[in-house]
Amino acid sequence: MAFAGGTDTTISTIQTFFLAMVLHPEIQMNAQEQIDKVVGRDRLPEFSDLVRLPYAEAILKETLRWQPVFPMGVAHQTTTDDEYKGCHIPKGAMVMVNAWSILNDETADSDPLAYNPERFLKNGQIDPTVRDCAAAFGFGRRICPGRYMALNGAFITIASILSASDI
Ligand code: HEM
Repeated sequence: MAFAGGTDTTISTIQTFFLAMVLHPEIQMNAQEQIDKVVGRDRLPEFSDLVRLPYAEAILKETLRWQPVFPMGVAHQTTTDDEYKGCHIPKGAMVMVNAWSILNDETADSDPLAYNPERFLKNGQIDPTVRDCAAAFGFGRRICPGRYMALNGAFITIASILSASDI
């Protein structure tokens, strides 16, 4: 399950990152400038650098938000009758979550269709008041159990690629 759940999802995120960097070279340069300042050019970034690389972290969050891997979540089925805001949901109904609309909510973010990592930053740091990209990993008891590994793996990949190459 870890292999099935963790491969295409992480690759899709990295492919979206490549697309975003091709489309926005100025964003790539901003991230590289911070990496060069914090990490230098003699080594690759490490996990301990994460807190000092908010721009790369913002790129990861924005990549997951902008083109979520599962825009309509993963299908679930009710095991009993249920009710939500007055709507009857019969046992056996298939329930899909519109993760895309949560991540592209005009009332939460300005210009949600634009790729803009800086929406996650305030004074150069990750802004905890901005809605996170967590909806990309599902909800409730079946939320992605690999999300911490996914975030760490994608962060170190993005930071290493930006440190070693121009896309
Ligand atoms: C960017 C990478 C990833 C994304 C966007 C992602 C997203 C998701 C989503 C949306 C679900 C469905 C949650 C729900 O039903 O509400 C899920 C389930 C799952 N993910 Fe991930 N995932 C990622 C990486 C990983 C990794 C690295 C692993 C394992 C190492 C993993 C393992 C799983 C497993 C086992 C499930 C099924 C959980 C269950 O049904 O109870 N995922 N993931």
